[in-house]
Amino acid sequence: MVNAMNEISLSGRTALVTGASSGIGAEVARELACDVSTLVLVARRRDRLEDLASELTAAHHGLRVIVRDVDLTDLAATGRLLDELEASGVAIDVLVNNAGFGDRGLLDERPWSKIESLLALNVVSATFLIHRVLPKMVARGFGAIMNVGSVAGIVSKPGSAVYGASKSYLNALSDALSAELRGTGVTVTAVLPGPVPTEFGAMAMKDDAAPVRAASAENAGADERREPRLKLPRAMVVSARECARQAVLGMKRGSARVVPGGLVYTMAKIMDNAPRPVLRELLGRSAAKMRRRQ
Ligand SMILES: NC(=O)c1ccc[n+]([C@@H]2O[C@H](COP(=O)([O-])OP(=O)(O)OC[C@H]3O[C@@H](n4cnc5c(N)ncnc54)[C@H](OP(=O)(O)O)[C@@H]3O)[C@@H](O)[C@H]2O)c1
Repeated sequence: MVNAMNEISLSGRTALVTGASSGIGAEVARELACDVSTLVLVARRRDRLEDLASELTAAHHGLRVIVRDVDLTDLAATGRLLDELEASGVAIDVLVNNAGFGDRGLLDERPWSKIESLLALNVVSATFLIHRVLPKMVARGFGAIMNVGSVAGIVSKPGSAVYGASKSYLNALSDALSAELRGTGVTVTAVLPGPVPTEFGAMAMKDDAAPVRAASAENAGADERREPRLKLPRAMVVSARECARQAVLGMKRGSARVVPGGLVYTMAKIMDNAPRPVLRELLGRSAAKMRRRQ
């Protein structure tokens, strides 16, 4: 059902949000809690998910929240989670592929184990989840998929090459699926945030993919903005809450792409249309400076 604002109704629906223990994912869960009947919160840090579940069930009468601590890079464990939900009659109407992390540094100097985990989460796990839930969504004639990509996927910068490429993949996958699914009742929305103060920066600076245990979101946000030779204006920073608000609204309207924040949107447009040879030259210079500094 679509309301006067051209937004689909999520009343009575079930949403699964990955990476709900922190940052954008937790805020997307808070947004969706106003609409859906059942929320499935997935991440590795169970204590965080349980705190969020308590907050949401206290704030929204009748809301059912299911918490599952799963390492999504483990496809067998992810498959078991989906099997268990299906067996207990929980059908996923909304899938939010949000879990993801970045990495900072030149590719040849970064540990392979972290790069492998990054690809396993940002690319493989997100695709696996879509592949598992999509057939039932198409059969029911209803579904909404949100993939949290990044503006970093428009132009993949030196110093975060694999991360940027993983987000290019997710942006491109979303565009193609959005076209593939036209007329089926299932929508795909790519969300491309710019800088959002979360634990993202702390994760990117680590040499491993284990969860962040004791980082202040404020400091982590500062890390996220600490790009080599690239000072971002504060006006580009969008809060996780505002990012989630715009993301969920865009998804409910069936938008194929959402870039939260006016300035980020404008920058994304410029980057999208910038001539590649010019970009390559500028990025090449910045990479050369990074290598010289080490
Ligand atoms: N913050 C930004 O500036 C920014 C910009 C553009 C795009 N993004 C994208 O936004 C998404 C959310 O990031 P965020 O900024 O909210 O960062 P965040 O605060 O670090 O949140 C990342 C989430 O992913 C989960 N996660 C990480 N590894 C996992 C795994 N193996 N299995 C299950 N869950 C896992 C984390 O939970 P556990 O550690 O508890 O597992 C956490 O809930 C990411 O896809 C990121 O690439 C962020």
